[in-house]
Parts: sequence; structure tokens; C-alpha cells
Amino acid sequence: MGRAERLEGRVAVVTGGAGGFGRAIGRRLHEEGARVALWDLDEARASALSEELDATGRSALALGVDVGDSAAVEEAAAATRAALGPIDVLVNNAGVVDAAAPWEVTDESWERHFRVNANGAFYCVRACLPDMRARRSGKIVNIGSLAAQQGRPTTNPAYAASKGAVLGLTVSLARHLGEYGICVNAINPGFIRTEIHDQFTPEGLAPLTADIPLHRGGEHGQHGRPEDIAAAVAYLASPDADFVSGEYLSVNGATRTGS
Ligand SMILES: NC(=O)c1ccc[n+]([C@@H]2O[C@H](COP(=O)([O-])OP(=O)(O)OC[C@H]3O[C@@H](n4cnc5c(N)ncnc54)[C@H](O)[C@@H]3O)[C@@H](O)[C@H]2O)c1
Repeated sequence: MGRAERLEGRVAVVTGGAGGFGRAIGRRLHEEGARVALWDLDEARASALSEELDATGRSALALGVDVGDSAAVEEAAAATRAALGPIDVLVNNAGVVDAAAPWEVTDESWERHFRVNANGAFYCVRACLPDMRARRSGKIVNIGSLAAQQGRPTTNPAYAASKGAVLGLTVSLARHLGEYGICVNAINPGFIRTEIHDQFTPEGLAPLTADIPLHRGGEHGQHGRPEDIAAAVAYLASPDADFVSGEYLSVNGATRTGS
């Protein structure tokens, strides 16, 4: 099966589809044959990509959605279904993080991390499930983080905790949804430089780059690339992973080996 066929005829939703990972994931799933809906707070930026993809002759769509707002998520699922058809693949990628020591974490910051990273992932799953259950098939890929497994220096502990919730959600959903033929997995990326890190100081970023044994060189230095995440998502969304569910796939250049 060639790359252009693995997701032929599927409809995929990518949350955070205007961001660093989201754009690469949207492009890759579309390239593999899916019709793609990009859900993001930044509708203008998501639209720039969806228009480019749509112009190839295979549909793509951008919607301005706050994943932490369950009513807005339900509306986005309905609009996606109406425009592209029933949803086969959901990639829960929208996320927020900041740099903070534990004693600096405010109630607002704690709640913001959980609202977007954890609540948002669940709301999107719940909104897409009717299509998947009715068709007794589906793929859900949650973007977790290495932070949930080993913490990350300088990163707000609310981020690690909210991504821990995403990992717990992943294994729970995998057990609940297996009988419906729905696979649920997570990807735990290591450090991959995107705009999410723009608020970090060079001193805050340094420890994140310090321990990446698999040096890539080139413009990305030691980091991975968003395309590395997109390739892993495409695998988990494809029939090649039909018997893989409840797993965490690390993509981190050996920053952490084992699990
Ligand atoms: N870049 C890394 O090194 C890294 C490592 C581990 C995990 N992650 C996770 O990967 C995902 C993507 O990260 P990225 O590096 O591409 O970040 P990014 O900031 O480039 O993209 C995040 C996107 O999510 C969108 N978003 C934020 N809040 C939203 C909301 N409430 N509703 C809808 N969209 C919202 C933003 O507008 C943005 O387009 C996040 O979940 C992040 O936590 C990233």
C-alpha cells in the first residue's frame, strides 16, 4: 500500500491544525489520502493551509474552534460531518504550555493547561465518537508529552499533569472502545522546536536541548521536526496499526529510552 492510499477516503480532524505539529500532521494525512479538517483557535492561519490543500482537488476545511468549549467542539464536529462526511480519524494535538516553577503556578495557569490539554481532548473524542461507533471503526491519536513520563526542566508542572491526564484518557478509551473497532493511542514527543516555545528564554530552552542523543544536525540542530510527529501520527491513523491500541509511542531522539 503506497503512502497516497493508506488513508484514502477517510475524514481526519486535526486540532491545533494551525500550529507547528498540526500543520505537518494535516499535510501528511492529506497527502496519504484523507479529507482533512483543521480545528484551531487561529482560524485565519488554519484557513491558509486548508485552502492550499483543498486546491489539490481533495477537500480540506478550517474551523475556528476553542477545544476547551464543549459546545463549540460539538458544532465543529457537526460542521465537519456536513462538509466532509463522518469522522474516521481524530488527532488531539491542540495544546498549551508555559515555563513556570511550581511556586509560580497560579490557579488560572493550572486551569488553562487542563482546560485545553485535557478537557479539550476529551470533548473532541466525545464529539467524534458517534461517527466511529456507528461505523465500528476509528482512530484516535492523542499528542501527549515526554513531560508526563519524566517531567521536563523549566516546564510548568501543570503541563505535565494535564498531559498525564491525556495518557490516562488514552488507555481508558482504548479499553472502552476496542469492542467498537476504535484504536486509541498517544504519541509522546520529546523536544521539537515550534512556536510553543517562543515564550521560553534561551536559559529555559537550553536544558531541553541538552539531552537528545540522536543528533539531527541541519537547521533543526538537535531537535526533532514536526514531520517526525506527523509520520508517527500517520502510522497510528492507518490500517497498518489496526491491532495497536492503548500504546504510547515516544518520538524523542532517545532522550528517554524505555518507558
Ligand atoms: N513542540 C514540542 O516540543 C512538543 C513536545 C511535546 C508535546 N507537544 C505537544 O504537541 C502539541 C502541538 O504543539 P506545537 O509544538 O505544534 O505547538 P504550537 O503552539 O505551534 O501549536 C499549538 C496549536 O494549538 C492551538 N491551540 C491552542 N489552544 C487552543 C484551543 N483552546 N483550541 C484550539 N486550538 C488551540 C494554537 O492556536 C496552535 O495553533 C501540543 O499539544 C503540545 O503540548 C509539543
